[in-house]
Amino acid sequence: MALVNTKKMFEMAYKNGYAVGAFNVNNMEITQGIIAAIAEENAPLILQVSRGAREYASISYLKAIINVAVEENPDIPIAINLDHGDNFETCKQFVDDGFTSVMIDASKLPLKENIAVTKKVVQYAHARDVCVEAELGQLGGIEEDVVGVDDVRKHLADPDQAVEFVEKSGCDSLAVACGTSHGAYKFKTEPKLAFDVIQEIAERLPGFPLVMHGSSSVLKEFVDLINKYGGNLPNAMGVPEESVSKAAKMAVCKVNIDTDLRLALTAKIRQVFAEKPGEFDPRKYLGPGRDAIKAMVKHKLHVLGCAGKAAECA
Ligand code: G3H
Ligand code: 13P
Ligand code: ZN
Repeated sequence: MALVNTKKMFEMAYKNGYAVGAFNVNNMEITQGIIAAIAEENAPLILQVSRGAREYASISYLKAIINVAVEENPDIPIAINLDHGDNFETCKQFVDDGFTSVMIDASKLPLKENIAVTKKVVQYAHARDVCVEAELGQLGGIEEDVVGVDDVRKHLADPDQAVEFVEKSGCDSLAVACGTSHGAYKFKTEPKLAFDVIQEIAERLPGFPLVMHGSSSVLKEFVDLINKYGGNLPNAMGVPEESVSKAAKMAVCKVNIDTDLRLALTAKIRQVFAEKPGEFDPRKYLGPGRDAIKAMVKHKLHVLGCAGKAAECA
């Protein structure tokens, strides 16, 4: 199967109460770890590339790696998404480069401007069979003008605006700020998501797929390993996996996970260096790191409920 867009995946995820994992890729080992897990679990997949990933590895390298993954796994539906596209030009470039989905993140702009730029991306992308994800509200972390997670309630997606936004922009899915943020420090005290916001938006937009960013759980086991082997991640905290599973059973059809893969890779590499201080063959630490990513992704596919769902999404 060639690369697919996200339409069918979201239809099935919505109907059958699961979410498709969207995992960020920056290099070959990360991509191979993800793909190995997906192949073993027979799950649909969204691979995504951020602006930072493009700057680090270049689109041509990442696309070539992804193309191999697609060719080697003909039975798995795989979509590739631009993660957090910052303007029309960036989105256009990724559409032109063969991505099957683009996210336009204009959530910092006033509603009218966010709608206008999203609509422009939709017109360009839909003419080329590419799906568009947009964002409403502001997550902590990546948006510099959100000062901290304590303020997050003020920045949640507004259900009234969500209806207007979707109707006027024509986007295919919507990332809604619901209390999560990017990175390993999502909460200072008890982790809490605004399920009321997700539910209200779902009721007002029946059948419409929502997206949850900042969905890593920052598992204690990996933070402890990193700290044990010389790292320093005090008080790191993520979204509990029960909450991710709950959102996946609701209208959330795409769940973005990057930090948990970074933590798994880092923990394993640190362990190798600590246990074998003389090691300098990259294959001897990147290989185990790749295995750690595979194990993490396999686990996540069960949290999201999309293991075994490749065929119905194809
Ligand atoms: O959106 C956040 C993702 O974790 C990507 O992060 O911009 O450092 O590649 P990045
Ligand atoms: P995490 O930092 O929680 O993994 O979120 C990743 C993300 O939302 C990418 O867009
Ligand atoms: Zn994100």
